[in-house]
Amino acid sequence: MAEVPALEIRGLTRRYGKVIAVEDLDLTVQVGDIYGFLGPNGAGKTTALRAALGLIRRDTGTVRLFGDDRLVGARSKVGAIIETPAFHSWMSGRENLLQAGQLSGLGGVALDREVDRVLERVELTERAQHKAGGYSLGMRQRLGIARALMGGPKLLVLDEPTNGLDPRGMREVRELVRSLALHDGITVLISSHLLAEVQAMCNRVGILQRGRLRAEGTVAELLSEGAGDGIVEVGALDMGALSAAVAGIEGVENLGAGAEGRLRLRCGELPLYALNAQLVGQGVQVSALVPARRNLEDVFMEVTR
Ligand SMILES: Nc1ncnc2c1ncn2[C@@H]1O[C@H](COP(=O)(O)OP(=O)(O)OP(=O)(O)O)[C@@H](O)[C@H]1O
Ligand SMILES: [Mg+2]
Repeated sequence: MAEVPALEIRGLTRRYGKVIAVEDLDLTVQVGDIYGFLGPNGAGKTTALRAALGLIRRDTGTVRLFGDDRLVGARSKVGAIIETPAFHSWMSGRENLLQAGQLSGLGGVALDREVDRVLERVELTERAQHKAGGYSLGMRQRLGIARALMGGPKLLVLDEPTNGLDPRGMREVRELVRSLALHDGITVLISSHLLAEVQAMCNRVGILQRGRLRAEGTVAELLSEGAGDGIVEVGALDMGALSAAVAGIEGVENLGAGAEGRLRLRCGELPLYALNAQLVGQGVQVSALVPARRNLEDVFMEVTR
């Protein structure tokens, strides 16, 4: 028998005046998922997450958290960071968490212990007594996750948790999220613009555009669907000449920048040697010709075209 989903959204619509921010959205996060929620700027991700958590009103639709449609009852099972978490800069990280706990009705030794536990979990114990105002963006994000973890949620909802972080900060958050999912058994719903990150981190993905879900599936499913064949990355001494030559070859689609400064192309049925011959024939000095696999960015571009 299938387990009750962690989150089940059905027919969710939310308008702001005439703008339909989220339209008739169905989305299911299964227990154990690390679900990547993707979409261009303004697609409606934050609105959908807010409405799903009952932070804003919804116009239509139902939301069930672990099978329960009474959000108040299910709230304790959910921890969330929606957009950048705010903290009192003059208070220490620990004091911020203590205050958050008190506001949600905790206190005494139990609260102290819980704060110590979540600080340890996000590796902020050493800096816990320092003022939050002096924290780096990455530390603030981890403090936000610590706050979301208080009370031991079974579902963690993170809206762009790596937004603005440097590579090290991103990696810390990514590894923390993975470890929360894999070791602590927490189901994760994470919105992000970082497609490579999502491809590496998530097992399921949904792509939202203009308030509607355009594609959903496991990463493997999305990568194997549709026109995925014949992707190659080409390097040349003169990349401008390469681009110009590609534009004149029938059946070859320019997908934009690839790895290491190469150009990403979809060649369909055209074999690599034929592509190479055509490029060389047009005077392009080809320096690399690398077969590549379809990635989440390709899928995203196709779906949101
Ligand atoms: N409080 C608001 N008042 C009016 N319109 C809003 C409000 N919040 C969002 N919108 C509009 O709703 C649509 C969806 O916005 P939303 O912030 O949910 O998108 P998003 O996918 O989270 O975008 P981003 O990737 O930039 O965070 C946009 O057209 C936006 O302008
Ligand atoms: Mg947003």
